[in-house]
Amino acid sequence: MIKIRIPATSANLGAGFDALGLALTFYNYVEMEESDKIEISSEDGTDIPADDTNLIYVSARDLFEVCGKKLGGLRLKQKNAIPMARGLGSSSACIVAGLVGANRLLSDPLSADDIVDLAAQIEGHPDNTAPALLGGIVTAVFDGRKVHWVKQEVFTKLKFAAIIPDFELKTEKARACLPTQVSHKDAVYNLSRAALFSASLLTGKFGNLRTAVHDRLHQPYRMELIPHCREIFDIAYDHGAYGVYISGAGPTIMAIVDEENKYFCGKMQFSLENAGIDGWSVHQFGIDNEGTRIE
Ligand code: HSE
Repeated sequence: MIKIRIPATSANLGAGFDALGLALTFYNYVEMEESDKIEISSEDGTDIPADDTNLIYVSARDLFEVCGKKLGGLRLKQKNAIPMARGLGSSSACIVAGLVGANRLLSDPLSADDIVDLAAQIEGHPDNTAPALLGGIVTAVFDGRKVHWVKQEVFTKLKFAAIIPDFELKTEKARACLPTQVSHKDAVYNLSRAALFSASLLTGKFGNLRTAVHDRLHQPYRMELIPHCREIFDIAYDHGAYGVYISGAGPTIMAIVDEENKYFCGKMQFSLENAGIDGWSVHQFGIDNEGTRIE
């Protein structure tokens, strides 16, 4: 059995819609081997498709096809920690697991670049799939076929506090609410902030992050789909977060905090409960610089 560890990811990082993402120290595990039938089980009780619609299986089959092979069956054991439809890259983790595992089953015919491209073709955008595979913070442009990317490792005293609700928000719904056109002014607003985000993160100019996470392409629309979103942003800033943004398509809200802000998660959880905002839990992660690995 091949055992694969895949990190959760947080995409967009505020203004970098479909372009920026980073990997978190929070992991799914998949064990995989070829078989004469499809046998899929969940080690943690998560409800996952156990047939040929399973995203790990579909992605593995795609890679086999690209390599001119036919994938018959597959034995998969999934251990999912990353909650589904919460904006933490659960579907990208499945896609990357399927591609990396299938590539290893075929003795690694495809390069990391090839897998980054295939993963983005399956997902439709690269900002979760690329950091899930590569780790670190990834800046990516997807031209519909190929991803042009840079991965940068991040060594920082920052922590990422994921404020995760007990409800799902499907990416399709969170993309359907976005406008089809934006003004030139709003485009400039976003591109300047997206560039500021990665430059500030990588150079330690954390005071810029509060400005850098603002955006006009997706967060104002998605906030309407996430009850208490604005209040939660305010509470996180009151507790000293450098920047707060909707992680990926949401509904998780991510607060970037200094590691010296030791009690942020506890204070946040307490304040949410005090404000009657129920069903949210706060979890702190670091940045994973390694990406997906075969153990
Ligand atoms: N960039 C994507 C979005 C990430 O915001 O829709 C979620 O898959």
